[in-house]
This record gives sequence, C-alpha cells and structure tokens, in this order.
Amino acid sequence: MARLAVFASGTGSNFAAIADYLMQMAGAQKHTVVCLVTDKPNAPVVSKARGRGIPVIAVHYTSRSAAEHHIHEELEPYQPDLLALAGYMRLLSASFVDRYPSRIINIHPSLLPRHAGLNAIQQSYAEGDPELGITIHYVDHGLDTGPVILQRSFQRRPDDTEADIEERIHTLEHEHYPQVVHKLLNDIDARRNGIGAEQDHREV
Ligand code: GRF
Repeated sequence: MARLAVFASGTGSNFAAIADYLMQMAGAQKHTVVCLVTDKPNAPVVSKARGRGIPVIAVHYTSRSAAEHHIHEELEPYQPDLLALAGYMRLLSASFVDRYPSRIINIHPSLLPRHAGLNAIQQSYAEGDPELGITIHYVDHGLDTGPVILQRSFQRRPDDTEADIEERIHTLEHEHYPQVVHKLLNDIDARRNGIGAEQDHREV
C-alpha cells in the first residue's frame, strides 16, 4: 500500500475522482488518500474530504515559508509517498519541492507548454487552439514546467462553447489523473517491496 496526499483549493472534482478511484480498487493495489492539504478551509473540496473520512490539513498563508513549514510538519505523521496537486492555487517554493524529490505531481488543463499558469482553459479557448487537452507532470521549481508524465487531447469542434471545452477537459482529467496516480503509487509500492517497477508497468 502507498500513501497519497492531495493538495487542492477549489471544487475538488479531481480530488473526489482520485479518492473514489483508489477506494474502489481492490486487493494488494489498494492505496490510501491519507489527507487533503488546502489553503481554503471553506472550499467545496473540504466537505468532499470530510464526507469521505479523509483528514484535512488547513493552512493559513501569512507567509509562504511559514505555511510550507506548517504543511511539512503536519504531513510528517501521514508519511505520504506522493503529493498530488489538484487545483492547488499556491506556488510551492523550490525548497519545499526539494524535500519531496520526484514525488510531487500536478494536473494542468492545457497542453503544456502552451498556457502555463492561471486561466489555461479560457486562454486555450480564446486563442482558438484546434487541439486542447490536459497535462499531468512532475512539479519542479518553475510554474507548470516539470517533466510531463502524460498528455491527452481532443480536437475542437466548430460549435464548441467555452463551457463545452471546460467540460471535455474535466472529463479527461477525471479519467486520467486517478489512473496516473494509481500507477505511480503501484510503482512506489513495487519498489518498496523490491519488485522491479518495470514488472509492474502498465499503460495508463
Ligand atoms: C482542474 O482543471 C485542474 O486541471 C486545475 O485546477 C482545476 C481543479 O478543478 N489545476 P477541481 O477543483 O478538481 O474541480
């Protein structure tokens, strides 16, 4: 079993998709969402965590270094193997990222490197991109710049509204982010148990 911490600030649809996917997996591949980290204690994602019995670490950002120190201390007892950002609206410092080498991932609603940063869906739509999609990537010191794990895309239809595009992107996110998280947790678990990760490799 491997342990996941999810960081989120908003609606939490990806949080819910990941938590439900991991909960429904049976047997030896059962991994746990050990906690939610949020900077928004009133965000809908918090009730999604509480409703699933998942502990919530709420962080008050007076300064980023104080907040990250608090997160690190609060995370310690949960011993997470992987940190998945899912709409976490704070940029993590380089020193925080370095504490969890290759163990922090993020989902972004565009085909990076296009439209890094905020409002990626709106920008993809407004700029008329014929191909739109999602990127799941490792977090490095930059803004949405880390190594890509997976991208999935679709072609814009002539009559797509921005709301249609948003829905299609969220559908892709909810399908693929849980699968990628699950695969990475499997790999972590396999390494810990001394099984070559390649033996446990499966397409996501
Ligand atoms: C998603 O579109 C994700 O790609 C972006 O933030 C959004 C979070 O949505 N990083 P939700 O809170 O999971 O519904």
